[in-house]
Amino acid sequence: MQNKLNEILEQARADLSVASSIEETEAIRIKNLGKKGLITDILRSMGKLSHEEKKTLGQAANTAREEVEALINKKFKEVKENALNKKLSLEKIDVTEPGVRKTIGTPHIITITTQEIVNVFRSMGYSVIEGPEVDTVHYNFDALNAPKAHPSRDMSDTFYFSEDILLRTHTSPMEVRIMENMKPPIKAIVPGRCFRYDTPDATHSPMFHQVEGLVIDEGITMADLKGTLATFARLMFGEDTKINFRPHHFPFTEPSAEVDVSCFKCKGKGCNICKGSGWIEILGCGMTHPNVYRHGGVDPEKYTGFAFGMGVERVALLKYEIDDIRLLYENDMRFINQFK
Ligand code: DAH
Repeated sequence: MQNKLNEILEQARADLSVASSIEETEAIRIKNLGKKGLITDILRSMGKLSHEEKKTLGQAANTAREEVEALINKKFKEVKENALNKKLSLEKIDVTEPGVRKTIGTPHIITITTQEIVNVFRSMGYSVIEGPEVDTVHYNFDALNAPKAHPSRDMSDTFYFSEDILLRTHTSPMEVRIMENMKPPIKAIVPGRCFRYDTPDATHSPMFHQVEGLVIDEGITMADLKGTLATFARLMFGEDTKINFRPHHFPFTEPSAEVDVSCFKCKGKGCNICKGSGWIEILGCGMTHPNVYRHGGVDPEKYTGFAFGMGVERVALLKYEIDDIRLLYENDMRFINQFK
């Protein structure tokens, strides 16, 4: 029996010395100290021994059990620690590792241009106001003094939702909405999207952007309009930019004009950008018609003022020398990133 016990002890020591995992250690525990374990067996078989044998062997068996138990606990601690260290080293974060570079976008050229225009007018004290893209025939046409037979009201020119509701064809409907909500003196600009029934080509898009301008006060004259637009042109396109007023007709202004800026590329000599004329058209404007004031609740006997509507795409195409308006709407990052 003593020999057997020694053998078991030897084997257990040997097994434990090479065990390297929780599972292996647990197997050794079961093999020796489990319900049917080798040492358990010996302890259990004590009953059959003589009193003398019981005493010596019993002591030896207990000591063996204690030793094996201690060795197993030590091993458990060791393998658990190893397992944890291994896990930690696998999950370790290398803070010196270079990060994954995120691609940062850039504002779209239309946004950039709108902001440039807005900033110029803000520097002149204008408020920035936005309005609905879906509007009524009243604000889009009637209140702007546009006669019932005006071609822009045609089904083939305008997107209607119903007889009275449409996608605004310009930012001008905000003029009357502003008059209804603010008291003169008024100096406001309205950037926003507009919609017209146009087939897309290099210079047309059914969706485009405008910046509307509106000034109302006592004693405002056409000289103020000219001075304002001349200042805008210089700030936007450069100190030596000139403007040219061409008589035009809009139902909501009288007199009305279209305004060109001198070509910033050739300085008015004529080039491919200005198609040889030396001038580039960027907006429509005029002295607001008394009928429009009446619709907005402004007294035309007391107040005068001007308004203008500027094409953002037009300014962007010219300023950044882009030859096809469709490039602005394709969301091709190779194009957009050029304006970072
Ligand atoms: N709404 C006009 C257009 O879309 C542009 C315009 C002309 C706006 C004269 C105005 C204005 O405010 O007074 O073509």
